[in-house]
Amino acid sequence: MKKLLVLRGNPRKEGATEALANLVVKGAIDAGGTVEDISLPDLDIKSCLGCFECWLNDGTCVIKDDIAKIFAAIDRCDVILFATPLYHFSMSSYVKILLERLLPLVTNRIVEDAYAFSINAPRNTVMHGKPVALLSVAGLYDTKVFGGLVETFKLIAEGHGATFAGKLLRPEAFLLQFPELARQKIAEIETGAINAGRELVTEGIISQTNEDFVSQAIMPNASRMIAYSGIYWEYAKIHGSYGEAQHYAVLHDAKLVLMELARTFDPVAGKDARFDILFEIIDKGDKFLLSVKDGVCTIGTPTDAKPSLTITSDNETLTKSFLKEMSIRAAISSGQMKLTGRTDIFMKLGKYFTAAS
Ligand SMILES: Cc1cc2nc3c(=O)[nH]c(=O)nc-3n(C[C@H](O)[C@H](O)[C@H](O)COP(=O)(O)O)c2cc1C
Repeated sequence: MKKLLVLRGNPRKEGATEALANLVVKGAIDAGGTVEDISLPDLDIKSCLGCFECWLNDGTCVIKDDIAKIFAAIDRCDVILFATPLYHFSMSSYVKILLERLLPLVTNRIVEDAYAFSINAPRNTVMHGKPVALLSVAGLYDTKVFGGLVETFKLIAEGHGATFAGKLLRPEAFLLQFPELARQKIAEIETGAINAGRELVTEGIISQTNEDFVSQAIMPNASRMIAYSGIYWEYAKIHGSYGEAQHYAVLHDAKLVLMELARTFDPVAGKDARFDILFEIIDKGDKFLLSVKDGVCTIGTPTDAKPSLTITSDNETLTKSFLKEMSIRAAISSGQMKLTGRTDIFMKLGKYFTAAS
């Protein structure tokens, strides 16, 4: 069983890097492995001076700080996992600073490796031959955002005579806070991270299956993720980017609730239906048009055309009643929710939308 060294480069302890790295650690420990877990922002590691003194002496750095703790930890371990948030399509500065300070692990002598790639000859066996894996999380939608980072880590592994052991890449990472929006996918992502921890301490490599589990899309397309990101940041300004209040507010946003409702439209049951429902969210001043036509349901901005039905309500009443946290009947009879136009459509919503059934 291998000993895993986790080098964390995330300054934020409530974030997605921390959460996913914790799952990898859990998988490693559950499998019987040992883990040494180091948070780089908690250490004093200064930037490389580029003086090359370590290449002129026996590999001793002129800077006296916590870097020796890292060298010792790398020496003790069998596998290394770097965990970093994606910052400007690259690693966080904590990881970058650490990597620069690994210069004493190689010498000034340039050699060709087994792949005819010229590298500085490793000075000793501290990192040589060890598997190096990468975990990173990002805000944007596409895994393409990690392209530069992955290439960099592959080169770093090869440059140190180590092997690249795989990658756990998680775009749209803020959505991990909202498992309610995609329960199965987020459960698979978490399972993939746990499995990867087991693989690292047993085989020293992350399988493609678990890489794919972790990096799978949560939202069906970029435009939905962009809409949800807008909602997330709207409430983050009020409640902060994490915590119960933020969680509640995002999941009780009228636009998000209506988009989730639209997602449950049954194209078979609604294939001949044609109607528009205008939602007026009075306390927020928002208006959304839910349109059903040709077996497709969309949420958009209102047009000048008269809607089939208008539903007027405050945000709290609309979302709680649509989320079945309060009775729609009570909301209507108390006047908190008003229906104008074809109320028969309202009665049939359960037929067209599984979320409303
Ligand atoms: C300084 C900074 C730069 C960022 N750059 C990118 C970026 O280039 N691409 C991206 O998709 N997300 C970017 N993000 C978003 C983060 O990757 C995202 O918020 C991630 O969840 C942060 O990790 P954490 O949750 O562990 O804190 C950036 C965030 C910060 C703070």
